[in-house]
Amino acid sequence: MTGNTLYDSLLIAIFVSAALTALVLLKIDAPYGRHKREGWGPKIPTRLGWIVMEAPASLLFFWFFFTGPNSGSAVALILLFMWQLHYVHRSFIYPFQIKVKPGSQEPLLVILMGSTYCGINGYLNGAFVSTYGTHLTNEWLQDPRFILGVMLFATGYYINKKSDAMLRALRASSADYQIPRGFVFNRVSMPNYFGEVLTWCGFALACWSLAGLSFVLFTMANLVPRALTNHRWYREKFADYPADRKAIFPWLL
Ligand SMILES: NC(=O)c1ccc[n+]([C@@H]2O[C@H](COP(=O)([O-])OP(=O)(O)OC[C@H]3O[C@@H](n4cnc5c(N)ncnc54)[C@H](OP(=O)(O)O)[C@@H]3O)[C@@H](O)[C@H]2O)c1
Repeated sequence: MTGNTLYDSLLIAIFVSAALTALVLLKIDAPYGRHKREGWGPKIPTRLGWIVMEAPASLLFFWFFFTGPNSGSAVALILLFMWQLHYVHRSFIYPFQIKVKPGSQEPLLVILMGSTYCGINGYLNGAFVSTYGTHLTNEWLQDPRFILGVMLFATGYYINKKSDAMLRALRASSADYQIPRGFVFNRVSMPNYFGEVLTWCGFALACWSLAGLSFVLFTMANLVPRALTNHRWYREKFADYPADRKAIFPWLL
């Protein structure tokens, strides 16, 4: 805890909402992508939705990072680079890489909930790295937690981006869903989600912070239930779906 009431309260709120999110998403599939359905209120165009949802994580991290006292330190700058490597791509590049059907829209409610979370998450992690993470000095560069964290982040990032690129290639080749094959798809149905979880485990380890841990738990609360649903969906849709694939964690789940 930092002693800043707003920061600490938001951090606790994220831990609580991660638990609630997991419980809700085990019962209700988030209504976007292959589980899109009517009855979720007004909608906005898919690409705009991705930008509105993800950009606050990038922008608020930038803001609280550069207004913090440690923003010039080497460790802080590396952590800034890691965060923005993901979030500048996810907010401003990914929405234009995905192939969307003409007129495709997503529920505003889902976008606003995601956007609110991303903003809070950008604040919690940006402020931690530049203000509250007093251990993030030059000595931290040699700490095993930092080194392992950066390696885990890089591994997760590669798996996430390569898997997403393979799915985009499948989508470009056909308007129908197909069975993805190769790379980590040979082990799990949702390697992009697996990579995402590893990415943020790496970031949390490299920061050694509760803010990072809250992000890991929130990511898992979102992605594990959806991976389980998508895995069932693949098995029901394709009679020849590989029987030995897990949903998200190779050999485990
Ligand atoms: N940190 C978090 O909490 C969080 C939450 C959600 C997502 N994410 C990340 O955001 C990214 C996208 O997530 P997502 O849930 O949209 O992933 P997704 O369901 O795997 O879809 C990604 C893209 O690939 C297409 N696609 C998926 N499976 C396909 C198949 N079998 N055949 C052809 N095309 C296929 C989808 O088309 P359709 O749109 O037509 O289905 C979509 O354009 C991932 O990297 C994920 O890790 C992170």
